Amino acid sequence: MYFDLNVTDAMVAGQVVQSVVYIDSYQVGTKKDGGDYIFGKIRKLRKLCNFKIWDSNIVSFFKSNDFVHKYLYLGFKGSEWNGQRDIVITQVVNKEFEVDSKEFESPLEYEELFKDFGAYISSKLSPNWVQVVNIAFNAIPDVNMFERFKVEWAAHGMHDAVKGGLLNHTLKMLRIYDVIEENDSRLKEYSDLIRTGIILHDLGKIEEMENGEYKNDAYVLSHRAMGIGYLERNYTEVLKYISRGEMLRLESIILGHHNGLGDSEFARTIYALIVHLIDNLDAQVTMLMDSLESKDTLKKNGCGDTVISVNQHSLIV
Ligand SMILES: [Fe+2]
Ligand SMILES: [Fe+2]
Repeated sequence: MYFDLNVTDAMVAGQVVQSVVYIDSYQVGTKKDGGDYIFGKIRKLRKLCNFKIWDSNIVSFFKSNDFVHKYLYLGFKGSEWNGQRDIVITQVVNKEFEVDSKEFESPLEYEELFKDFGAYISSKLSPNWVQVVNIAFNAIPDVNMFERFKVEWAAHGMHDAVKGGLLNHTLKMLRIYDVIEENDSRLKEYSDLIRTGIILHDLGKIEEMENGEYKNDAYVLSHRAMGIGYLERNYTEVLKYISRGEMLRLESIILGHHNGLGDSEFARTIYALIVHLIDNLDAQVTMLMDSLESKDTLKKNGCGDTVISVNQHSLIV
């Protein structure tokens, strides 16, 4: 059971339900009549979901406390406006909820996924490339980077925005790559390079964020630049196991895997572009399924078909 399934029930049925929810953020707004209201986001399944509070007592309660990043036990109901489904908080059942159960923290079995990750590295990579992975994962002094990688989120709200999401996203990419390689044996020559590139491509996110929240200075460099640092600061160690040419190509995957998205560097090698395509495929498919699962943009089109809105596309389910 994941903590906010009841929220989805409310969105579908429009009924009043009670559930523990995680408050991501909120602000005070001004209503047309001059009074205050609250608008913000809670986590619902693997997505962020808008909420509003109109009730003046609950508005005062939220204004006089800081519930950001806290769990509350609330009553709420779904509302729909312009195809966007929000929830309206109508009741505070319990002022604060102590989360001590693992069942509330993630829908992912990340301990199991981590075992799969270890098994993948030892069975699919050549010994020299296993060493390169180990060097990168030991690059930050006094930080257990494997442990951080196991529990960190892949993003605040895009895809795999849950505890263990970074590991889950990386494993999905490795498995997608395996299928592509099985269908084109010419890739086998570059197996170690591409697989290691996937393993390390988002590792720098453990410095960008903590529990899915971006840290101060997160954007001064980027998770891509951070990832390169893990290799470059151990230059002589890395070169004991792979050539400088291989190391540069590995770094090209880490630096170019966003291929010009936002302010990122474009892919400069074929390996960087392949990893970008796999990264994008996993991210896009996951976002589609998250939207479908959370039901927050479901509506009917003129023909009576159910439609979801994702990235400006209106897609029939
Ligand atoms: Fe990335
Ligand atoms: Fe990624």
